[in-house]
Amino acid sequence: MAIAVLGLQWGDEGKGKITHLLAKDADMVVRFNGGPNAGHTVIDRGVKFGTHLIPAGAFYPNTISVLASGMVIDFEVLREEWDMLSRHLGWQPRLLIAENAHIIMPYHRALEELEGSGKHFGTTRRGIAPAYRDKAAKVGIRVGDLLRQDIAKQRLERRLDLLKREWPNSEEVQSLDAGVLLEEQLSFAQPLLPSIGNATSAIDNALEAADRAVMFEGAQGALLDVDHGSYPFVTSSSTTYAGLSNSIGISNPDIDRRLGVFKGYVTRVGAGPFPTRVSGELAERLRTIGGEFGVTTGRPRDCGWLDLVALRYTVRLNDCTGLAITKLDVLSGLDEVKVCRSYRLDGESIENFPLAADVLEGCEPEYETVPGWREPISEIREFSGLPSQVMGYIAFIEREVGVPVEIVSVGPEPEATMMRA
Ligand code: GDP
Ligand code: IMO
Ligand code: MG
Repeated sequence: MAIAVLGLQWGDEGKGKITHLLAKDADMVVRFNGGPNAGHTVIDRGVKFGTHLIPAGAFYPNTISVLASGMVIDFEVLREEWDMLSRHLGWQPRLLIAENAHIIMPYHRALEELEGSGKHFGTTRRGIAPAYRDKAAKVGIRVGDLLRQDIAKQRLERRLDLLKREWPNSEEVQSLDAGVLLEEQLSFAQPLLPSIGNATSAIDNALEAADRAVMFEGAQGALLDVDHGSYPFVTSSSTTYAGLSNSIGISNPDIDRRLGVFKGYVTRVGAGPFPTRVSGELAERLRTIGGEFGVTTGRPRDCGWLDLVALRYTVRLNDCTGLAITKLDVLSGLDEVKVCRSYRLDGESIENFPLAADVLEGCEPEYETVPGWREPISEIREFSGLPSQVMGYIAFIEREVGVPVEIVSVGPEPEATMMRA
């Protein structure tokens, strides 16, 4: 039995809340993409956590949390997170870290600043793009290299040699030393070294076992996918279901549920086009009531109306079997809610999501207005108890995208959730 939980917008859809709830029944939870650019909020027994690298399996003592090969791992962040969770939970999260995942080195973070790419793209400045770039250029350092230090040192020396030639005037780069960097990484990773191994075979075995439940925790969202998102304003990993298979090294995994998570509106943080973005009082209202500030960077998120052009696209991209809608409580108090069903581009109405950011930039949303609901809904626990306008909104979305809404979330706490399947 397996389920994949995937973000359908520009990230921050509430994946952390949903994966934390569903991980309760999982024997294994697998993160398959990205790195500490992710920030997943979990409220566990009343305590709020923001996780960056460790998936929601950590909150259950018998569940194994896998960091699969499609990830890029910053051991400084991982160690801090593992220590923090161990302290709060009273047990050490059981990890399996893919030996073929790549390491984010301190120079990857520095490169985003030196090149100005962090500022230009509004990235999380966690070294994500430079680390994935090194992986593709075959000059990356992999997690398993930490177990063979002579190899790690050789690879680091070669990488530093290239880096020093590229940045002759950077004191920071010129002062880098392979031995020192390796020692530093080993000191962060030290208690986690026994957790490094072959993630593919462990996931394969778990998927094969009839009595084991596996959950996959996506990071970021489909519109940030490096190939299928609004390039170049994307992250550097494959964030969709298609990317999952490659990351875990299993070509056609038997994952019967593919749950797409989306907000009842849309947010985006960082640079890039966002057709349904709103401004002024409404933006301020959604941001304040929705607490729309980045978990990783604290940046205010831009807010806008639900975009069905984008949602239809990402539901199809992920071959979703069901949906989870979050943050409907944030829309309470509005007389009307707008939903974008098509874009106007060069005088024509289009229903397909453009693949290039510059084309998307030129798209104007064409809205349909639906009735809003004035009453608060965050205390409602039964679907049948929701105001008729909320049910109407959900039914409208289901008709548009052709996939059932299985989970309805009306607050950040786990209790504020209605399961329909
Ligand atoms: P993720 O990156 O997809 O895990 O999402 P984030 O944790 O970055 O952002 C989602 C934010 O919304 C967090 O602050 C959650 O606690 C909060 N949240 C999740 N679901 C709901 C909901 O239904 N209502 C409200 N008001 N907040 C929610
Ligand atoms: P979760 O998992 C929201 C955005 C950044 C930037 C772009 C590229 O919490 O949903 P990067 O540092 O990845 O090179 O930045 O992607 N971004 C996210 N936005 N949620 C995330 O993760 C994100 N991870 C990256 O803001 O626009
Ligand atoms: Mg987030």
